[in-house]
Amino acid sequence: MRPPSLRRRLLTILAAPMALAWLASGVLIYVLALHYANLNYDRSLRQGAVALEHMIRSEAGQRELSPQARILMEYDTTNPGFYAVRSLRHGMLASNLDLPTPDPLPPVGAAPQMFSVEVGRRPLRMAALTAPAADPDDEIVVAVAETLHERRALAREILVGTLPIVLLLIATVLALVWMAVSRGLRLLDPLTAQIAARPAHDLSPLDPSVVPIEIRPLTRTIDALFARLRQTLELQERFIADAAHQLRTPLAGLRLQAERALADPRPESVRAALAHVERLSAGAGRAAGQLLALARASADEPGQAVPADLAQLARGYVAERAPDALARGIDLGYEGLLAGAIVHGDPVMLREALVNLVDNALVHAGHGGTVTVSVMHDDGIELAVEDSGSGVAEEWWPRLGERFFRPPGSTREGSGLGLAIVRRIAERHDAGVAFGRGREAGLRVGLRFGDLGERAAG
Ligand SMILES: Nc1ncnc2c1ncn2[C@@H]1O[C@H](COP(=O)(O)OP(=O)(O)OP(=O)(O)O)[C@@H](O)[C@H]1O
Ligand SMILES: [Mg+2]
Repeated sequence: MRPPSLRRRLLTILAAPMALAWLASGVLIYVLALHYANLNYDRSLRQGAVALEHMIRSEAGQRELSPQARILMEYDTTNPGFYAVRSLRHGMLASNLDLPTPDPLPPVGAAPQMFSVEVGRRPLRMAALTAPAADPDDEIVVAVAETLHERRALAREILVGTLPIVLLLIATVLALVWMAVSRGLRLLDPLTAQIAARPAHDLSPLDPSVVPIEIRPLTRTIDALFARLRQTLELQERFIADAAHQLRTPLAGLRLQAERALADPRPESVRAALAHVERLSAGAGRAAGQLLALARASADEPGQAVPADLAQLARGYVAERAPDALARGIDLGYEGLLAGAIVHGDPVMLREALVNLVDNALVHAGHGGTVTVSVMHDDGIELAVEDSGSGVAEEWWPRLGERFFRPPGSTREGSGLGLAIVRRIAERHDAGVAFGRGREAGLRVGLRFGDLGERAAG
């Protein structure tokens, strides 16, 4: 496919209007030329009528035109002139065509007047005047006429002469447009230079002072892309820093345990060291998994947005974790809607949030405790997980969900990323996160979704 071209585009846009303008100017030129041709030809017709009247007067009394006068009148071969001289009392005196009597009759002695008449289906232009006759009771009507051919031929000639000139003008305009595009595009040079001169890490917005107004929507899009890139880069940098930070401690621990085992090769010491190694590597593995989950939840990609049934999702997950809870001596249960709590979002992410909340609850509920997952629907849809553990002091609630934040005195192992993941996933779904106290002390974490979905069935 040919790449789009501004020039071609402009020319195709202009072609039709220009062709139309050419045609319209042709019509206008013809109408104007015909108008001026008419003025001229009418004038000479009127002069013809006056001349004829003079000739008749010099031959006063005669009822016939002299042969000389007749030749003069009929001489013009290209545009045969017609004439008719009538006496009001005696009828036609002389004529080469039966021109109609002008109506209304011009007053005696007045200047000749023009008429458009038709003789034998042929349109004619006629100049006529009324002159006094020798007989005081009579009047002589003198009329000369001609066809419209000559005037039209003249107008056509003018048209044919001027149309190429107009065409030339249009071609000049199009050529100028062609050239103006290159010159106009030079306005982009400073912007191109600015982008070319940028260091790779500079993702600040483009300097708007060098951006032509018409291009601003494009540069705004580029700036928005830069902003997203900046965010992604920041995210990546943070991920790398976090990963280094998270893995340094367990790696140091692993090394220490290895050194210890090497220094003291007794089987019981080696076993103890290996147990540490197992615990440390499990922790590191989990931290890496949590880091990846947080990076996924923070990524700028839109993710999928499908109608997802939170109630079914939560019930299914509770059933899945039941054996695990049972093994830890925890009563894990579900209450609330059985189905029909529809939110638009990414089911995989929603599940990830649930996993983190239930993980926390199971860890903190402790043996013999209870964990309840619920999905309710009032003016919105709320997914909540609460446990009967020791909970978190209220002063720390605002900070729960910060990356790596763990309330002072947290003894359980953890990377401190679970709630940050939950918070990011909630943000992506336009849901609010609320921390509170559970019914049996403990912590209650609620995710409140806007009422996007309809409640299908209870
Ligand atoms: N249900 C809960 N009961 C009591 N304390 C909790 C509960 N949930 C979270 N906390 C406290 O909040 C801290 C942060 O929780 P978060 O899930 O973010 O991280 P984590 O559990 O320590 O690590 P991980 O990334 O493995 O989940 C926990 O360390 C814990 O002290
Ligand atoms: Mg956790």
